[in-house]
Amino acid sequence: MVRIRQQLRTRIIGRELLYHSAIGSTNDEAKRMASAGANEGTVIIADEQTAGRGRLDRRWVAPVNTCVLASVVFRPRLAPRQATRLTMLCSLAVVKAIEAVTGLVLGIKWPNDVVVMRDRAFKLAGILTETALTSDQVLYAVVGIGINVNVDPAELGPVVTPATSLRAELGRPVDRVDLLASVLAEIDALYAHLAGDLLPTQWAARLVTLGQTVRVAGRRQELEGIAEGVDADGALIVRDLAGNLHTISAGEVSQSALSA
Ligand code: BTN
Repeated sequence: MVRIRQQLRTRIIGRELLYHSAIGSTNDEAKRMASAGANEGTVIIADEQTAGRGRLDRRWVAPVNTCVLASVVFRPRLAPRQATRLTMLCSLAVVKAIEAVTGLVLGIKWPNDVVVMRDRAFKLAGILTETALTSDQVLYAVVGIGINVNVDPAELGPVVTPATSLRAELGRPVDRVDLLASVLAEIDALYAHLAGDLLPTQWAARLVTLGQTVRVAGRRQELEGIAEGVDADGALIVRDLAGNLHTISAGEVSQSALSA
């Protein structure tokens, strides 16, 4: 993994890159460094996490030396409600990088699961964004990226969305360093478009969730309806069975029993 340094041609992302053979969680280390003043673009990578974390307080399992495990420190000029743009950016960058390196065609399950679509979505990668905020700005954000590369999906334990890996999809292993270099290059390129329409437009075009009947378990509510669109900050707009529109900014989406 450490040979990544020779491959990077990025402007901001990976200017400082720290490799750990094993660590608790790259996100925890990146947050510790960011709060101690680490520069924007600092990247933490690891071959093994002993306490990897997913969204909604879940564990993130990745057998040693099989996956991409990375966290990026950002210091963006964003208001707190716009921090979701970083999640859009990194999920889109992961999609573009995997497509470029492997030729697979991928989608995004709202809000940020990178998936292969067959009869249903199979998860290849996840994004965990954590922020330090004041009332009117993002002080820093850490975006963690986990990609299932050369792993048997059966080794990933119980998962909410069925899992897959690049090796399972392609029938051959993928070079994790080439893939990570491509991911960081895509993040670097997209970061110039953090403001403006390009990022939400390209991200929304990849959403496999739109037009689907979904059940959404949010922080405050659970509802079922049709996912009709997303707003400028990436919140999901769902029309419930009574015809009322709901804007959902965080939560878990599953295919509804109604559309099964
Ligand atoms: C999810 O889909 O639930 C998000 C998964 C994010 C996993 C990555 S692996 C690198 C970074 N460190 C962590 O502890 N989590 C993220």
